[in-house]
Amino acid sequence: MNIFLFGATGGTGKEILVKLLEQKHRVFVLARNPGALGIANDNLTIIKGSIYHPETYQNGLRQCDLVISALGTGTSRKPTEIYSKGGEQVIRSMREAGVKRLITLTAAAFDPTDPGTRSFIVKYIVQPLFKHIYSDMQKWEAMLENSRDIDWMVIRPGRLTNGKEKGNYRVQLNHCPKGGSKISRSDVADFVVKQIGSDTYIHRKVAVAY
Ligand SMILES: NC(=O)c1ccc[n+]([C@@H]2O[C@H](COP(=O)([O-])OP(=O)(O)OC[C@H]3O[C@@H](n4cnc5c(N)ncnc54)[C@H](OP(=O)(O)O)[C@@H]3O)[C@@H](O)[C@H]2O)c1
Repeated sequence: MNIFLFGATGGTGKEILVKLLEQKHRVFVLARNPGALGIANDNLTIIKGSIYHPETYQNGLRQCDLVISALGTGTSRKPTEIYSKGGEQVIRSMREAGVKRLITLTAAAFDPTDPGTRSFIVKYIVQPLFKHIYSDMQKWEAMLENSRDIDWMVIRPGRLTNGKEKGNYRVQLNHCPKGGSKISRSDVADFVVKQIGSDTYIHRKVAVAY
C-alpha cells in the first residue's frame, strides 16, 4: 500500500515508519528536518516541508491510499495548534488528494468521561501540565466527528514510554482499559500498523495501554 506518514521524525512516528517499511509498504513522509530521520530505504520518499505548507506534500499525498498522523509537540507544553490547525490541514489536503482513510493519535488522559482520568495524579498534575496540548487534541477530535467523509480512526494511547515492544497491550473503545496508564511507542506503532487493513475502528476512538 502507499502510505503518507506525518510526524515520522517523532518517537512514535519513527517506530511506525520502521514497521511500515518492514512490511514493504511504500511510504511518503513529511519532515521539517529530513536529516533527523536517519532512515533510508528504496520504498521511502522523504519530503522536506511543514504541515502548514501543503504545496510541499500535496503531490506525494495524491499517490497514497492512507494517511497516518503522529504529529505532536515533542517536549513542548506551550500552547499549540498542531492538532487543530495541523489536523485541519491534513483533512483539507486529503480531500484535495482524494485520500479517504486516516489513522491519527491523540491521548487517553484528557477525556473527563474516562474514569481513569479522575485519579488525583491525572486530574491535578497531568491535565494541568498538558492543558494546552489536551485542549488542542480535543478540537482535533471534534473536527473529526464532523468529518464523516473521511474514514478516520483515533488512537488514544496512555502515557508513552520508550520501552521494548511487548505485544500484550489492551485495547478499548474510548477509555483506557481499567488500570492501564502507559504503553510503549513501539507497541502503539504495532497497533497502528495492524489497523491498516482493518475497518473495525472506522469513526471510532480507541484507547491502548498495558
Ligand atoms: N508523551 C506521551 O506520554 C503521550 C501520551 C499520549 C499521546 N501522546 C501523543 O502521541 C503522539 C506521538 O508522540 P511522540 O512523543 O512519540 O512524538 P513527538 O516527539 O511529539 O513527535 C511529533 C512529530 O510531529 C512533527 N511535527 C511537529 N510540528 C510539525 C509541523 N509543523 N510540520 C511537520 N511536522 C511537524 C515533529 O517533527 P519535528 O521532528 O520536525 O519536530 C515530529 O515528527 C503525539 O501527538 C503526542 O502528543 C503522547
